[in-house]
Amino acid sequence: MGRVLVTGAAGFIGAHVSQALLARGEEVVGLDNLNPYYDPALKEARLQALTGQAAPGAFEFHRLDLADTEGVLGLMAARPDIDRVVHLGAQAGVRWSLEAPFAYTSANVTGHLSILEGVRRSEGRIGHTVYASTSSVYGSRQDGQPFRETDRAERPASLYAATKLAGEMMSKSYTDLYGLPQTGLRFFTVYGPWGRPDMAYWLFTDAMLKGQPIKLFNEGRMMRDFTYVDDIVTGILAALDHAPAAGTHRTYNIGNSRPEQLLDMVAFLEEALGVKAERVLLPMQPGDVPGTFADVSAMKRDFGWEPVTDLRTGLGRFVAWWRRYFG
Ligand SMILES: NC(=O)c1ccc[n+]([C@@H]2O[C@H](COP(=O)([O-])OP(=O)(O)OC[C@H]3O[C@@H](n4cnc5c(N)ncnc54)[C@H](O)[C@@H]3O)[C@@H](O)[C@H]2O)c1
Repeated sequence: MGRVLVTGAAGFIGAHVSQALLARGEEVVGLDNLNPYYDPALKEARLQALTGQAAPGAFEFHRLDLADTEGVLGLMAARPDIDRVVHLGAQAGVRWSLEAPFAYTSANVTGHLSILEGVRRSEGRIGHTVYASTSSVYGSRQDGQPFRETDRAERPASLYAATKLAGEMMSKSYTDLYGLPQTGLRFFTVYGPWGRPDMAYWLFTDAMLKGQPIKLFNEGRMMRDFTYVDDIVTGILAALDHAPAAGTHRTYNIGNSRPEQLLDMVAFLEEALGVKAERVLLPMQPGDVPGTFADVSAMKRDFGWEPVTDLRTGLGRFVAWWRRYFG
């Protein structure tokens, strides 16, 4: 077996995926530019944990920008042992895409294309590319129905969503043109240990422990299909291990398929932290969507995958990690 190139390896999901690959005896080439969108010290700490756990030589890291196409192509050409790609590196965050739009085209459009070109130039050596997309591609929906992969996704509510949808489209075109086997995974609000400091569950935990108020947008009337990171990881590996035939591009939802009220999420955090939150109710933010809800029957049908972690349990594990990490 060859090596897996994991992009965004210093990121939240990328570090967990790298850890799981290493734990099952695989070798990983990690790529990340360690950008300061949130504290790079957390990214460094994730890398340190990975390096500490890996067998000698099993994990190597390259600090590289995905939009540095020559750099990415050079790395992929120089490593003929890479036979699969898990592409998770991206500029994430719905709200920041209103502030820094070009960071999104750079990482998510140019960067995505760098990876596709690297795979194309491998001339079949890289047998499967799995890449991250997002529930955001479904846009703003109020119908209460689960989102299905066959639903139309052509009204992205944010530039972030638009760039991730562009990534899906570029992937489809590369499969049609060059036959690359690819799997696109639409993640639904991922949370857990080593998580992302820009996301609500992290911001709330931080504020509650400091005795500061928490901001609830749309006055807290939001539903999210919160998905525990270990469930995302088992889904990514299940998809990775089932490469489609040449000429096939597939798209799957990975979510908990159990939308929860934002206010219930706050209640679970209060319980885990033993702290009462001071709530500030604010209007809806531009780019945000009121609810998400994954239909995951395709993942179950094709890979036998199902999420197993409920929100209360997952947040409990996140808080336990937080206490260990921050002391
Ligand atoms: N966490 C979620 O709720 C969620 C939901 C839907 C989709 N996703 C997608 O999952 C993937 C991983 O997200 P995450 O939550 O781990 O976010 P993250 O920000 O923790 O990880 C992304 C990593 O990519 C790196 N990166 C960003 N731009 C880069 C560039 N130009 N070159 C090289 N590296 C770059 C960052 O430094 C970061 O370490 C992303 O593609 C994201 O769009 C995440």
